[in-house]
Amino acid sequence: MPKIHFINSNKELNVPNNSNILRMSLRYDGGLPNRCGGGICGTCVCKVEEGVEFLDKVKVQERRKLGEEWLEKGYRLGCQTFVTNGDVSISWDEEVTELVKKRKPDRLKKEFSSV
Ligand code: FES
Repeated sequence: MPKIHFINSNKELNVPNNSNILRMSLRYDGGLPNRCGGGICGTCVCKVEEGVEFLDKVKVQERRKLGEEWLEKGYRLGCQTFVTNGDVSISWDEEVTELVKKRKPDRLKKEFSSV
């Protein structure tokens, strides 16, 4: 069973394979900020501190809202990200969250959105 460590709230959850990070946070008080749940608002942005290899692929909504600049720094949207079959640690930061929330979504070129 994979584990999600929510660093800010110091919660460690054992979760089933392919669990959504935000859903687990809501269910077990992980504390990850959130609003829309649909990859639009950016409130659930989190930094993957460990276990990036145990996350599923980046979604189109994340490419739009985070852009390469934040994706490259290891950020994901918790509402769009699933833990596959290993342990991950995530953290979040109010300053980053505000920047991401304000960021205008990128328009994606066609070839990019199918990745
Ligand atoms: S909660 Fe709005 S983008 Fe995840």
